Amino acid sequence: MCGIVGILGQNSAAPRLVESLRRLEYRGYDSAGIATLEHDGIVRVRAPGKLASLETALEPVRLTGTSGIGHTRWATHGAPNETNAHPHVAPGVAIVHNGIIENFRELKAELTGLGCEFESQTDTEIVAHLISEGLKDGRGPRHAVHAALKRLEGAFALAIMIEGYPDLLIGARKGSPLAVGHGENENYLGSDAIALAVMTNKVTYLEEGDWVVLSRQSVEIYDADGDPVDRTMQHTNASALLVDKGNHRHFMAKEIAEQPEVIGHTLAEYIDLAEGKVDLPDFPFGFENLERITITACGTAYYAGLAAKYWFERVARIPADVDIASEFRYREAPMVPGGLSIFVSQSGETADTLAALRYCQANHQNTLGIVNVRESTIARECEAIMPTFAGPEIGVASTKAFTCQLAVLACLAIGIARAKGTLSSTEETELVDALIGVPRHVAEILKEERHIEEIARTVAGSRDVLYLGRGISFPLALEGALKLKEISYIHAEGYAAGELKHGPIALIDESVPVIVIAPHDDLFDKTMSNMQEVAARGGKIILITDKQTAEKNGSTEFAQISVPVTNPFVNPMIYAVPVQLLAYHAAVFMGTDVDQPRNLAKSVTVE
Ligand code: F6R
Repeated sequence: MCGIVGILGQNSAAPRLVESLRRLEYRGYDSAGIATLEHDGIVRVRAPGKLASLETALEPVRLTGTSGIGHTRWATHGAPNETNAHPHVAPGVAIVHNGIIENFRELKAELTGLGCEFESQTDTEIVAHLISEGLKDGRGPRHAVHAALKRLEGAFALAIMIEGYPDLLIGARKGSPLAVGHGENENYLGSDAIALAVMTNKVTYLEEGDWVVLSRQSVEIYDADGDPVDRTMQHTNASALLVDKGNHRHFMAKEIAEQPEVIGHTLAEYIDLAEGKVDLPDFPFGFENLERITITACGTAYYAGLAAKYWFERVARIPADVDIASEFRYREAPMVPGGLSIFVSQSGETADTLAALRYCQANHQNTLGIVNVRESTIARECEAIMPTFAGPEIGVASTKAFTCQLAVLACLAIGIARAKGTLSSTEETELVDALIGVPRHVAEILKEERHIEEIARTVAGSRDVLYLGRGISFPLALEGALKLKEISYIHAEGYAAGELKHGPIALIDESVPVIVIAPHDDLFDKTMSNMQEVAARGGKIILITDKQTAEKNGSTEFAQISVPVTNPFVNPMIYAVPVQLLAYHAAVFMGTDVDQPRNLAKSVTVE
C-alpha cells in the first residue's frame, strides 16, 4: 500500500529518491519522506501530504549522501502526520516499510522493556529498533537484520540503511512486493519496476521470504532460512514505464482516452484476426470437462468479474460464482477439485485477491490470473495468466484496466464456450466481429465527451446519485457508482433496476440524479418501466442508451447520452466509457484531486 525505494549510487541520492517516489505515489500519498547517509550519519526529511510538500521541505536542506531510502505512505497504523511518516529510525538504523507487522504490539512491549523509546504510532518503528538492538548486541548488519526478520509476523517489504555502512542496503520481502534494480556500479531497491525505471531496466523480483544484501558492486539474495538463492534478472521495458500525462489534465483523462488503443492491443492477443476466432494461450488445464468457475477480485476488478458471470453462464453455459476477495478468503467455501478459479487484478498485488488465490490452490483449483502487471505476485503464483495490455495505470480510479479486463474475460468466455461445444462457429465469428469493433465504437464515444461533460455538470454538487442497470448492465451500474463516489466524493449507489422498488425508490426526489444504463437488449423494456417509476417520482433521469433508441426518444425531458449500436455481447465495454467520463467530469467540476482522491491508494497490499 505504500511505495518504497532505496538507492546505492554514485551521486547525491536525494533527487532520484524523490523522482522514484513520484512514480510510486499511486501506492499512497498521505505523507512522504527520505533518509540519506551523510558524513555525520543518517539525515531524514519527511512531510505530511503529497510529495510536493516533501519537495518544499527538502528545499533548504543540502543532502549529498549517495545512499538513501524513500517512502510514500498510505496510512495503516497512526495518523498521516510527519511523526508517523517514514523513514523510521532507531539508533544507527533507518528503514522504510510497505505492509503491516501484525505482532508489533508484542514486540513493542518487549522493546520498551529493553529501554527503547518510540516516537510514532506505527508498526514500522519496531523493526528499526529490533535491528538496532541486534547491532547493539554486537551482531553485524546482515545478522542483525536476519534475526529481526525472523521475529516479524505479517506482510512487509523493507529497505534498510545502516549508519557506518555507506556501501550497504538491505531489502526484504514477505507478502509485499520488492524488486532489486541493477545499475552501473549502483544498485537499487523499489516496490516495482516503475519506481526503478528512472534508473534501470534490469530488475530482479524477490520471492516470498527473500532478503537481499546490496553493495554498489554486488547483489546477494537469501531465502528465509538464510541460504543464498539465485533469482532471474529480467529486462523491463523501462521507457514504456516512464509515464506522463501527455496533453491531458489528469492521468485518468489520458487513461480513458487510451482505451481504443489498449482494448485493441488486448483483443489482438486473444483473437486470431485473420480467422475471426478466439485464440487463447495454451493452458496447463483444459475446459472440456469444466463444471464450475469461480471469479474472485476486489472493487472495479470484481465488477469486471460480475459482468463476466453473464458471459460464462449465457455463452459457455457454465455456472460462475463471483466473490469479493475479502469475503471469499475467510468463508471456507467448499470447492470441487478441478474447478477453474479466476483472479482479476490490475496490480496483481491486492492482498485479499492473493489470499483467495492461495485458498483456491490449497483446494485443488486450476488457477488463472487476469492481471495488468505481469511481474506481480498474483501473475507469478497463478498456474496460468491472461495479461491485459492496458499499460501502466496511474490514476487511482481504474478505467482502461477495467475495459481490458472485460476484453480478456469476453475472449475467455468464447474460448470456453467453444471447448464445451455451446457456441457454433458462426456464432463465435459474430461475437468476435463484435469484439473487434469495440475499439472503434469506444473512439466514437470519446468524441461525445463535451456533451457528457455538460451532463456531468448537472451531477456535480448532488448529495446522492443512483445508477440503475439490468442484466449485464447491473455491474456497470455498480462500477458507475464506485467511480463517481471515489473521485468526486458524491454519495452514489448502483442497483439492479428491478430492485429499486424493494427499497431504494424511497430515496428519489427532484434532487437525485438517476443514471439509467439501458442498452437496447432483451431487458430494455423492463429497464424502461423502472425508469418510468423513477420519472413518476420526480427523479432527475440521465439515460445512457444506444443512438437508435435515443433518436426514437427524440428530445425528452430527461438527459440522454447515446452510444453506438453494437452486439449486446460487448455492451459492458461500450457503456463503461460514458460512465467513466461522467464521473471524471463531475469530479473535475467538484474540484477534487481526480488522480489521487483522498484516503485511497492504487494498490491495496494490506487487508
Ligand atoms: C476503483 C479501483 C479499485 C480497484 C481494486 C482492485 O477504481 O481502482 O476498486 O479495482 O482496489 O485492485 P486490483 O485490480 O489492482 O486488484
